[in-house]
Amino acid sequence: MTATGGSGYLRLFINIDHVATIRQARQTDEPDPAAAAQRCEAAGADGITAHLREDRRHIQDADLDALMRVVRTPFNLEMALTDEMLAIAERLRPHQVTLVPERRQEVTTEGGLDVTHDPPRLRDALARLAAAGIRTSLFIDAAPRMIDQSAAVGAVAIELHTGRYAHAPADPATLAALADGTRRARDAGLAVHAGHGLTVRNVGPVAAIAGVEELNIGHHIISRAVFVGIEAAVREMRAAMDAAR
Ligand code: PXP
Repeated sequence: MTATGGSGYLRLFINIDHVATIRQARQTDEPDPAAAAQRCEAAGADGITAHLREDRRHIQDADLDALMRVVRTPFNLEMALTDEMLAIAERLRPHQVTLVPERRQEVTTEGGLDVTHDPPRLRDALARLAAAGIRTSLFIDAAPRMIDQSAAVGAVAIELHTGRYAHAPADPATLAALADGTRRARDAGLAVHAGHGLTVRNVGPVAAIAGVEELNIGHHIISRAVFVGIEAAVREMRAAMDAAR
């Protein structure tokens, strides 16, 4: 695994939240997100992502303990910037934390983090995570001031929100914003990840952007898993990414 970006290797992280969503629908013990993570790794995933939401609607605290025990690839914990979540991250010490915005009423993470809101608090949180040995990433919209501010507060990486592109892949402006944002971020010394709403049909142009190192993909993989199994779903995505690079 390399972290070079450009035309180099593009990491595929699988977000397994939706496995927990299915389990929570019945308040039972299956399907198990940790077992799903292991299957994803066996199929070639480069990392596993899970979002511990404040309302615990899908991933539970016990899932994180299990994931930390069984995941062999880098584990990326998505979380809101709260004292509770910071304490959990410092205790678990995942490979990476991606800070995301959270609104209780939303169905999924709808927009990027406003990194211009309370920069001292954000800088302090990133420093605490770094001190715990955790790589830091900020999930933001591809807006120049968000990118510049992410570099200013000391993040290692940004994850560009691809939702706008996923909703309008035929609109060249949505892809251009991601490509321009990637260039700007790398010039500022940031590593660049991307994700949200990506599918085997729309991933190609994002995977082809020089400088993107990592994709975080969840919903489509779990949806495809219903039909083809989770290993095949991961392999399909990997093939679609590789075809574009
Ligand atoms: N990246 C972040 C920060 C997210 O919050 C999500 C959604 O949980 C994803 C990536 C994955 O999005 P999707 O499930 O649409 O693939």
